[in-house]
Formats: sequence, C-alpha cells, structure tokens
Amino acid sequence: MKIKRLGLKNYRNCADIKLEFPTKKTLIIGKNAQGKTNILESIYFLSDLKSPRTSVISDLIKFKEPQFEISAEVLKNDTDIELDYTYTAEKKRELKINKVKSTPKDFKLVVKTVLFSTKDLMLLRGAPEDRRNWLDRAISQIYPAYDERLSKYDKIRIQKNNLLKNEIIDEALLDIYNEQLAITGANIIYLRKKFLKEIEKIAAQKHKLISELEEFTLNYTCPKDEVEEISDYLKQELIERRKEEFGRRQACVGPHRDDIEFMINGLDATKFASQGQQRTLVLSLKLSELEIIKEKTGFYPILLLDDVLAELDDRRQNYLLKSIDDNTQTIITSVDTLLFEQEFLKDVTIYKVDGGKIE
Ligand SMILES: Nc1ncnc2c1ncn2[C@@H]1O[C@H](COP(=O)(O)OP(=O)(O)O)[C@@H](O)[C@H]1O
Ligand SMILES: [Mg+2]
Repeated sequence: MKIKRLGLKNYRNCADIKLEFPTKKTLIIGKNAQGKTNILESIYFLSDLKSPRTSVISDLIKFKEPQFEISAEVLKNDTDIELDYTYTAEKKRELKINKVKSTPKDFKLVVKTVLFSTKDLMLLRGAPEDRRNWLDRAISQIYPAYDERLSKYDKIRIQKNNLLKNEIIDEALLDIYNEQLAITGANIIYLRKKFLKEIEKIAAQKHKLISELEEFTLNYTCPKDEVEEISDYLKQELIERRKEEFGRRQACVGPHRDDIEFMINGLDATKFASQGQQRTLVLSLKLSELEIIKEKTGFYPILLLDDVLAELDDRRQNYLLKSIDDNTQTIITSVDTLLFEQEFLKDVTIYKVDGGKIE
C-alpha cells in the first residue's frame, strides 16, 4: 500500500498543508520544531487513531482553532481509497472512507505504518509500559481484533481496581473479576507470545548480521505459551498474590504488568549492552516488524523514519537504508540532506518544512 496524497488542516502547527508522494521515498527536511514530526505523526495517526506523543487528541488541534482535519488518498490493491478524519474541540470526530462515514475499526484497517523514531531507540531502557505499547501496537496492525481484547481486559481491570479501593472488599465479586481477567488476559498474552516468537526469529538473524556475531533472544514475563496454560498460570498468580493486591489496592497480576526482557549473548541487554548494541537490536526489531506486517497482511506498511538516521552510525544507517524493500514506501525526516548519499537522493521527493508550511 502507498499514500499518494496527504492534506492537513490545523493539525498541530500545520495550518494548511498538501503533500504528494510520487516516489517511493520522501524526505522531509527542516530545522528543529518546524513540523517534520507533526507530518509523520499525522500519517501514523491514520493507522492507529492515536498519537505516539500524546493520549489527548485535542492536543493535535492547532492552538486556538476549532478543529483539525487529516485527509489522504491511499493506493491499496490497485484501488484508490480516500480517507477523511476530522476532530473538533468538542471532542466530536468524524471518519470517512470514500466520503462515507466509517467506524474507527474499519478506518484503521486501511493504512498500515511502522514508525521508527528516536524514542524507539530508548525501547530497551524505557519503562515496561513503553515495551508493552510497542508490542500491542505491532500486534494490532496484524490482528485488528486485538485492540478489542485489550479494551475488554482494561475495562474489567479498572472495575477491579475500583473494587479494591473499597473499605470492605466484596471477595465474591473479586473472584468473578479475576476469573474474567484470567480468561481475557490469557488471550492477550497468547497473541503477544506468538508475535514475540516470530519477531525473535527474524530479528535474531538481522541482529547477527549487523553485529556480525551476537545472539539475540528475548523473554516474556509469563512462561506459558498455550491459552489454557496461561489462563491457569494467571489464576494461580491471582491467588498467590491476592494479599499483595489487597495491600496495594490495585491489580498487580496480568498482561498490564508484564514486560519483555531482551538479551544479547544471554545477558540482559538493558543492563549490559552498549548504546550501539541496543540500537542494533531496536533497528533489527523495527525491520522485523515491517516484514511480519507485510507477511501477515499481504501489504507493505509505510515506513516512517523520524530523525533516526542521524542517531545511527554509518554501518547501521547503511544497513537500514539498504534493507528497505523497493516496494516499501518510506518517509524520512531529517535536519538536512547531508547524511544521504547521492545515489539515495536520486529518486526521492524532497520537501522543506518551515513553520508548519511547505516551502
Ligand atoms: N496543537 C498545536 N498547535 C500549534 N502548534 C503546535 C501544536 N502542537 C505542537 N505544535 C508546535 O509544533 C512544533 C513542533 O513540531 P515538530 O513536528 O515536533 O518539529 P520537528 O520539525 O522538530 O519534528 C513546535 O513548535 C510546537 O510548538
Ligand atoms: Mg521531530
């Protein structure tokens, strides 16, 4: 799939921007704080209906304006698809596919993206929540029903948290919540582990290639793999850690607390790997994510590279640019074009952004 046109109205600092993407590669150049990331973020937004930078959608409305609009023309299966998204200050949103009102679920299915930003380079050192978010987002691009499972799980978890805040806790109700959490939680963990197994395999090859010899492996908190085993495991944990949950007055067991451990040559990469090793690992993971989405959905996702090239050394930069498939549309932001070889710049569309406008 490919985005052919993008229009932004009052999106962040972009009052009115129209971009076309005639080539497979697009370079968005500009000084700091001009709107480069905002443009990539808006494309990402079409695929996730969320921003990677804020959970408050009204933050995306240009200051003092009543609403923002993102419109796009996408080519998929040799067919043009028009997308229109509007969000008002009153928190009303309107989603349209080919001018017809659509549900968020259908809307999100159209565009697939893999975003690789400087923040991802911190994936290993960041909080467990960052790693869970990365994982959840990658899975929901492949299994759209995954999002629903997550929200179902979250709903029950919030009810349970409210229950645990009471002076006297209704234990019979707690048992019911725990039973439901073990079942929905097991579904989530099952899909996470399945995805992690696949990405581990592909990323390990890439990591070995870039690093020349290192072995990459990963571990997920829950040691079980099959749905029923996971559910039994969660039930057991919920019993064993009941006191702890009472003490903390919140749900402490389940996928919302899990984490992924990345290892290089058997050692915890968060603690022992150098910055360069960690970057190689993240690069391998991101490229693997791209491959898996392509394989599972049959569509090449749009690769959005936000400022990352400048953060990678020559060897990793080269590996990244050379390993991008010719069929993958890539949109790259950078402060200048100096980083890129003449060869690379040959069939690239270059836009210059200044103060939220295209020069
Ligand atoms: N809702 C908004 N309305 C207007 N300007 C905004 C809004 N949100 C962010 N900005 C502005 O956008 C600019 C940052 O744009 P960004 O795309 O992150 O820059 P960069 O080119 O460095 O990637 C900042 O100047 C910020 O003040
Ligand atoms: Mg930026």
